[in-house]
Amino acid sequence: MVIGIKTALKHILPKPIITTLRVLQEPIDLFACISFLLNPSVAIALQDRFRLIKQLYAVTFSVKSPHTQKEVLSYIGTILALPAHKSAVVVEVGCFKGSSTAKFSLAADLVGKELVVFDSFQGIPDNDEPHDKNIFGAEAKFVKGDWCGPLEEVKNNVAKYGKINRCRFVPGWVDDTLPKFHEPILAIYIDVDLASSTRTCLKYLYPLLETGGVLYSQDGHLPLVIDVFNDEQFWLNEIGCRKPTIEGLGVKKLIKIVKGA
Ligand SMILES: C[S@@+](CC[C@H](N)C(=O)[O-])C[C@H]1O[C@@H](n2cnc3c(N)ncnc32)[C@H](O)[C@@H]1O
Repeated sequence: MVIGIKTALKHILPKPIITTLRVLQEPIDLFACISFLLNPSVAIALQDRFRLIKQLYAVTFSVKSPHTQKEVLSYIGTILALPAHKSAVVVEVGCFKGSSTAKFSLAADLVGKELVVFDSFQGIPDNDEPHDKNIFGAEAKFVKGDWCGPLEEVKNNVAKYGKINRCRFVPGWVDDTLPKFHEPILAIYIDVDLASSTRTCLKYLYPLLETGGVLYSQDGHLPLVIDVFNDEQFWLNEIGCRKPTIEGLGVKKLIKIVKGA
């Protein structure tokens, strides 16, 4: 019944009104977008910020994704603030259908950086991780093949809504691809759901992150992932540094590390 009314309204109402209604459905995201627009410390002109927000919504309305605009805007803000003279890359691990990739590629393009995208393009690997509930009480389950976005589909989405020329795709399981990657990194965004995948990302990517670089994980609401970030021995023995300060750990979904000297 509700779906019927929605479909009918879609045919009756003018497109700008439908778009406005869809934007208003997510007030937290709308607020994040307005804050981004009005924030003078965001390193691009107001008209570019406005265009970017419109582009973000265009992706959101067309490509399925689990993230919020607020979450991707955090990483976009980081990308836009990267030093112009540094040629190191920015990284995304876990892209699903390419919605987040398209958005990050738009930001990477504005500052002339390359976005390296790691994913199996086959979804979540086989695993026996006993996920149950996230810290907000919702069910968390990750079965083999969940969140699958085939490479061609991702490329099509990024070509349509983002800047595909700024992207380098590295298909494969992170256990196979990341140990072969040795390039300096300016910023990292991890969204891989599993504790084991997160562990691999941290082990191989964190040492490549430049001092002052930023790492985000969008899986900070998953207790098994929290355990990885909290594991002092893992940081010391496998990454070779003390556990850094992790903003939001245990209380937020999007957690953040700024790498110290
Ligand atoms: C929740 S989805 C990412 C969502 C995406 N960031 C977005 O906002 O639309 C998780 C992704 O992690 C990838 N992934 C998880 N574990 C992986 C592994 N061990 N190797 C490669 N990719 C992995 C899956 O293929 C999937 O695309």
